[in-house]
Amino acid sequence: MSNNLKDPYERRINYLRISITDRCNLRCRYCSPKEGKARLGHNDILRYEEILRVVRIAVSLGIEKVRITGGEPLVRKGLPNFISILSQINGIRDIGLTTNGILLSQYGRELYDSGLKRINISLDSLKEDKYRFITGGGELKNVLIGLKTAREIGFSPIKINVVAIAGFNEDEILDFVTLAASFPYEVRFIELMPFHLDLNGRHLTCEEIKNKIEASFTLRPLDNNENPLNGPAKIYQIENGIGHVGFISPMTKHFCHNCNRLRITADGHLRACLFSHEEINIKKELREGCSDETLRSLLMEAVDKKPRERNLTTFAYRQKSCQRDMNSIGG
Ligand code: GTP
Ligand code: 5AD
Ligand code: SF4
Repeated sequence: MSNNLKDPYERRINYLRISITDRCNLRCRYCSPKEGKARLGHNDILRYEEILRVVRIAVSLGIEKVRITGGEPLVRKGLPNFISILSQINGIRDIGLTTNGILLSQYGRELYDSGLKRINISLDSLKEDKYRFITGGGELKNVLIGLKTAREIGFSPIKINVVAIAGFNEDEILDFVTLAASFPYEVRFIELMPFHLDLNGRHLTCEEIKNKIEASFTLRPLDNNENPLNGPAKIYQIENGIGHVGFISPMTKHFCHNCNRLRITADGHLRACLFSHEEINIKKELREGCSDETLRSLLMEAVDKKPRERNLTTFAYRQKSCQRDMNSIGG
């Protein structure tokens, strides 16, 4: 496959993350828009046909891996049909979806039959009241049923994303590892990123978490770095356990030098870095009837503008007055 998506720092961009909606059935404290913030209207988000057009061109340029995110992707109508068309695009080697799992028991089977085989589920607490607190009212049992359904249907791998928050879920770290030891899940602890200023100062490092785990479990590193489609998570096998644990350290370990990502936001902007506000509006071009050639150039331009690494200081500063929350970027 040709790859024209090389950035100025020689990074090969082969992973496209697509946020298909900014809407969400939860209100996670580290993510959600502030109270009262207007959501995007139907006409403001990219239509599936528009996304598919961009994806086809992106694939012709070298994208091989696609992830569907939100907000919460399962709240958007027509998702299984979108996935089934997506999965027929030649050149895509991997399709994933990141969900909060609330609607998974309802839609899991249909999604699987449409061609989605692997899934990442966000779950930050295994206690009902804490889950309700962090998600702004979510019911834990819905996610647990979703998780079980996903396992029974045969999704593999099933990854569980746990955002580690000091004083909130640090007392549950071992419970999460026990979950991964008992079932075929990959539980990944993620360092809290400064998207929401309320939680600043509540950071835990992956090193602290790993030390805590190793006081009770033996972890053996898996060499998952060979496959260029693998992400920044460092994965470990749990001795005598079924599943795995992983660590994603956006705050303490720069993985920018290996970054292979490009994003499409729900409202149709190309974004080359999670932490950069630099974006290209492709929705406007699509709706003005642009050619494939223009789209190709815009994709290449976005990659060309990819910063060498994130600048957290500028990001946090600008985020105070900034328009965009995690839910319209999709993580
Ligand atoms: P896999 O393909 O299964 O490894 O998925 P993934 O880790 O790429 O996707 P997922 O949506 O599960 O993201 C996991 C976590 O990594 C989320 O908290 C993301 O916000 C975070 N993350 C993903 N991409 C980036 C990135 O480019 N930079 C930073 N700093 N964090 C990221
Ligand atoms: N820090 C770290 N991870 C975050 N996510 C959302 N907001 C943050 C944040 N501020 C995670 C969600 C989900 C993934 C897409 O991004 O938990 O698993
Ligand atoms: Fe929704 Fe995910 Fe954001 Fe939580 S992290 S509010 S589940 S989009």
